[in-house]
Amino acid sequence: PRSNRQVKLVLLGDQGVGKSSLALRFARGEFHEHHEATIGAAFLTQTVTVGQSNIKFDIWDTAGQERYHSLAPMYYRGAAAAVVVYDVNNTHSFSRALAWVKELRQQNASSVLIVLAGNKADLASDHRAVSVDEARAFAEDNGLIFAEVSAKTGMAVNEVFMTIAHKLVRR
Ligand code: GTP
Ligand code: MG
Repeated sequence: PRSNRQVKLVLLGDQGVGKSSLALRFARGEFHEHHEATIGAAFLTQTVTVGQSNIKFDIWDTAGQERYHSLAPMYYRGAAAAVVVYDVNNTHSFSRALAWVKELRQQNASSVLIVLAGNKADLASDHRAVSVDEARAFAEDNGLIFAEVSAKTGMAVNEVFMTIAHKLVRR
């Protein structure tokens, strides 16, 4: 029998890394070259099917600007999954991502499934600042799922969400 499940997912990361663009790519298959900065947070949904289960993602796309940092707990509290995004071409955004992972681990204990997603991989051949090895090693040491993605080309975006769906169905 088919079951329906709802999954609260939060996107976290520095401003401009492409959180909204990843959400838009996954939920609507769209990409906007000049996406405006998020104010507060945005909400989107998308449903995927894993075996006999319909998994509805309730996606909270948070704002990366520092002035919104204090709002983040409202969005990650009770989340089953968190996608922590950095820009593979920006080392500062990687440090910020590691800080988000630490905050999540402190606040959500061990229950939240965390994906470390290095976005803007389409620009990496010319502009890469964070190596795949460094990011993967951090992910392995901290029990995170890791992927490099591109909201622009769509590379690996659906796969990240499908991986989350598969892991959550098995819980
Ligand atoms: P805040 O809402 O301020 O936290 O930013 P954000 O993380 O939501 O970033 P947003 O999705 O608004 O993207 C910022 C800029 O990066 C936009 O101009 C996007 O078009 C661009 N961008 C996002 N993802 C990609 C990508 O994968 N490749 C390239 N080349 N540009 C991207
Ligand atoms: Mg945004």
